[in-house]
Amino acid sequence: MTEPRRQVLVAFATASGSTREIAERIGGRLRAVADVAMLPAGPGVELDRFDAFVIGSAVHDMAWLPPARGLAQRLAPVVRGRPVWFFSVAGIDPRGRTRTWMAHQEAARVARGLPGELHPRDHRLFGGVVRMDGVPLWGRLFYRLARQHPGDQRDWPAIDAWADEVAGALASSPLDAGSR
Ligand SMILES: Cc1cc2nc3c(=O)[nH]c(=O)nc-3n(C[C@H](O)[C@H](O)[C@H](O)COP(=O)(O)O)c2cc1C
Repeated sequence: MTEPRRQVLVAFATASGSTREIAERIGGRLRAVADVAMLPAGPGVELDRFDAFVIGSAVHDMAWLPPARGLAQRLAPVVRGRPVWFFSVAGIDPRGRTRTWMAHQEAARVARGLPGELHPRDHRLFGGVVRMDGVPLWGRLFYRLARQHPGDQRDWPAIDAWADEVAGALASSPLDAGSR
């Protein structure tokens, strides 16, 4: 007998769109192993019917955007062991040793603002699209010090590889019939 396909929620919060495109890319690859609902994070997103959750957000001021934080807060008390993955989309392109370290630090800061009870299987930080218009002086200085440049920092092979890791974990984890 074939197992029913896993129902996976890929939810995202974006200000300028780069996180949405990353979420779509991840969701597209997860469709190889699961039924995927791709939704903007928000209070109306239903959580009961999913077997697993991939939640991502743009990072603003070292934190997820409020709709993604709100979704994580709502999920925490009802997650009941269902697997969760987080991704963050930031102005840091994690390629390169110093920037990999910075990306880890930034992901850790972001995680401190999220419910500890969720215990994500992984939390990966990807570079997004950096626009300098509207960035305050301290932000520009930070970018300069971090040797970052504006523009599209998205590392699509890394995003695909991460999505495939999630897909592999989903495909090999047993469906918990009691979770839905
Ligand atoms: C107001 C503002 C604050 C930001 N704060 C941070 C930050 O604290 N850390 C960081 O790494 N990137 C920061 N960024 C860069 C964004 O995370 C990056 O541009 C990301 O790709 C935005 O995603 P989006 O296109 O989905 O909105 C900030 C960008 C803006 C506009």
